Amino acid sequence: MNERYAARPVVVDCDPGHDDALALLLAAGDPRLRLLGVTTVAGNQTLDKTTRNALRILSLAGAADVPVAAGCDRPLVGELTVAEDIHGPSGLDGPDLDVPVAGAVDVHGVELMRRLIVGSAEPVTLIATGPLTNVALLLRGHPEVAPNVRRVVLMGGSTDRGNTTPYGEFNIVTDPEAADIVLRSGLPTTMIGLNVTHRALATTEIIAEFHGLGTRLGAVCADLMTFFAGTYHRVFGFEHPPVHDPIAVAAVIDPSIVRTVAVPVAVELTGTYTRGATVVDLHRRTGRDPNADVAVGLEVAAFWRLLMAAVRRLGGVPGPAARR
Ligand code: BDR
Ligand code: CA
Repeated sequence: MNERYAARPVVVDCDPGHDDALALLLAAGDPRLRLLGVTTVAGNQTLDKTTRNALRILSLAGAADVPVAAGCDRPLVGELTVAEDIHGPSGLDGPDLDVPVAGAVDVHGVELMRRLIVGSAEPVTLIATGPLTNVALLLRGHPEVAPNVRRVVLMGGSTDRGNTTPYGEFNIVTDPEAADIVLRSGLPTTMIGLNVTHRALATTEIIAEFHGLGTRLGAVCADLMTFFAGTYHRVFGFEHPPVHDPIAVAAVIDPSIVRTVAVPVAVELTGTYTRGATVVDLHRRTGRDPNADVAVGLEVAAFWRLLMAAVRRLGGVPGPAARR
C-alpha cells in the first residue's frame, strides 16, 4: 500500500515556538504519520507570528502543501501573555528563515480542523502543542466531530511543578478554561507534561548531530536549539533546553516512547496562586474516574532517534558547512 495512505492521519495545533517547530518537522517527516493540516493559536507569540512561523518551517521542510490556518488570537478568558523571554520577539528567534513559499488558507483554524476531521475516512489524532483554545472551541462548537477524533495528545501541564507559575505550565496557564473543556470532553486524551519533557534535553551532542546532517534544515534546527539553550539558561538556569512539543508527536508515532498511567486530571481554575495547574490524581485519592493517560516515563534515546530520522528524511538543500 502507498505509505502515505497507510499512515495515521493527524492535525497539529501549535504556537511555534522553537519546540513546536521540531514537532512540525517530526509530524511532516515521519512516514507513519499523514499531516492533514496545521492550525495555529496565540501562545508563545501573537497569532500572526505563530502562523508565519508555522508556514516558514513547513516551507523549509518542503511541506508547503500542508494547509495552515490561523485560529484563535487570544485565550477564551482574559488577556494573552506571550513567552517572548523564551522564544524571542519573532517567536522563532535564532536562525535566518526565508519568507514562506505559501500563505495560510483563508479559513479559521477551528473550521479547518472541523473540515479535516469530518472529511477523513479514518479517525484523526489531534496533536496540540500550544494553548488549547482552538481545540476547546472545536469540541464545544462542533461536537459532531468527536466520533472521528481518535485521540487528543496534548503537551501541557505537569505531575509536579510548573514553568510559568510555581505549579502552572505555560500552555495550560495561558488558557485554563480551554484545557478544562478538553480534559472534560470525554475524548481519549494523552497528557504529555513537564515531568517527562524536562528529560528530553537538546544537549551539545544533539545540536552537533543536527549540524552533522549536513542540510540547511539540520543547521536551522541546530540554530533554533542554540537560541533556546540561551534563553532556558538565562530564565531557568538549565544547562540544556528541554524540547517539550515533539514528544507529543513521538507518542503518536510510537506509543512505547512514553509510559502513561490512566488517572483523573483536573485543571485549577480558581486557585489564588495555582490557576492553570493540572491537578493529577496519581494516587487515586479523589475517587474520580480517569480522564487522561498521563505520561510518567520517556524513552529519551528512542525519542531523539525518531526526531533525527525525520529531519534526515525531510532532507533539503545542503547546509552551510556542507556547502563549503
Ligand atoms: C510549552 O510552552 C511553550 O513555550 C512550548 O512551546 C511548549 O509548548 C512548554 O511549557
Ligand atoms: Ca508550544
